[in-house]
Amino acid sequence: MKVFPETFLWGGAIAANQVEGAWQEDGKGPSTSDMQPWGILGATRERTPGDSNIKDIAIDFYRRYPEDIALFADMGFTCLRVSIAWTRIFPNGDENTPNEAGLAFYDNLFDELAKHSITPLVTLSHYEMPWGLVKQYGGWGDRQTIDFFERYARTVFSRYQDKVKLWLTFNEINMALHAPLTGVGLPENSSESEIYQAIHHQLVASARAVCACHEIIPDARIGNMLLGALMYPLSCKPEDVLKAQQENHGWQFFGDVQCRGNYPGYMQRYFRENNIVLEVTPQDREDLRTTVDFVSFSYYMTGCVTTDDELNNQARANILNMVPNPHLKSSEWGWQIDPIGLRTLLNELWDRYQKPLFIVENGLGAKDSLNADGEIIDDYRISYLNDHLVQVREAIDDGVEVMGYTSWGPIDLVSASKAEISKRYGFIYVDRDDEGNGTLKRIPKKSYYWYQQVINSRGAALK
Ligand code: BG6
Repeated sequence: MKVFPETFLWGGAIAANQVEGAWQEDGKGPSTSDMQPWGILGATRERTPGDSNIKDIAIDFYRRYPEDIALFADMGFTCLRVSIAWTRIFPNGDENTPNEAGLAFYDNLFDELAKHSITPLVTLSHYEMPWGLVKQYGGWGDRQTIDFFERYARTVFSRYQDKVKLWLTFNEINMALHAPLTGVGLPENSSESEIYQAIHHQLVASARAVCACHEIIPDARIGNMLLGALMYPLSCKPEDVLKAQQENHGWQFFGDVQCRGNYPGYMQRYFRENNIVLEVTPQDREDLRTTVDFVSFSYYMTGCVTTDDELNNQARANILNMVPNPHLKSSEWGWQIDPIGLRTLLNELWDRYQKPLFIVENGLGAKDSLNADGEIIDDYRISYLNDHLVQVREAIDDGVEVMGYTSWGPIDLVSASKAEISKRYGFIYVDRDDEGNGTLKRIPKKSYYWYQQVINSRGAALK
């Protein structure tokens, strides 16, 4: 039986705005996520007194985290990926002094993880930013946001320097191209030039955070985070192959800047040919030279691209547009399931960057139901995760350096794209529905015991 390396980190990944709730407690300010009651794909709605948003309570992790962490520990987790809500620390984003109650919450959370010997992997910004910065400054469109972010990053690095040694800058940074409000705090109808300028500011901020992390916590490692949207050519027609390469450049661009320290030639050409003129200062160029220590990414599916217009018109639009792959099955949400693609992507990223890789999201969103005995028999989830983990092990055999695997949503949570709880990813069921009814009770699913075995056997239990 092949086992995973001893140092391999096993666990799960969650994000503040999808689990915590307590959206106004202990001085927290409103974030972009609080203005998206229907998720990233839905409209933005500013808060009015008495309105409701499923995320206001989410799964009440803010209060129930000791119970949840005890369950993660029971499964054998050695790592938990969490995010800090920027608005708990700087409620409007531009304050000079942080909010002590917000800092204290994460102190307690990290202490709880330490009690169970679970290593925290912390994302600085997971799909949310202070609404105050969006309203008053225009989000990442304004260069001042770089300084506000750096202040926030330095504050949390200093505060948690003894507790957190693994950090990530921006979650799925390439999503800004597809969801501008979520990614860079810009309105959905922003021009491409505005979006790329905001992205430039965010890339500079990411590099500055890497620099600050190295300075404040010399023994920490900090990575970027990409949505690993691997695209295949639908056919072997050279035009399709070229188009797939260009589509892949769409996300590789972010990794290339963050790992190599400058803008790649294919992007400069794209800017030239599309009249996109970015304001890039000599100091920005200098800042960008600080690169990440490792590369992390999410992986859910692959897609196909083609130059055939008729087929393109049938493309599935979720957040990304892609033509269905006739060789793959799909989840209930139409995401195509492709375990081998994960091995391909791991090899691709390793070849490209030669930096350690961390799979920080992977999982199956599915509807679960309780049987007559009150159990959740989620064999479909077990099979999805098993098949992906087998491919991770294959990639390690290929020579790829993989630091760990944190499956997405080890406990059911509010989905990002449509704010649904019925799209469940967890090993642990949470009794709450899309309308907010339910006791919030936690129930381990069949997959809970399966993952426990996989971790305890360092992967030998995989089939
Ligand atoms: C990733 C995000 O895009 O995918 C998560 O980083 C998100 O925040 C996950 O929850 C799954 O997407 P969804 O829409 O099913 O929640």
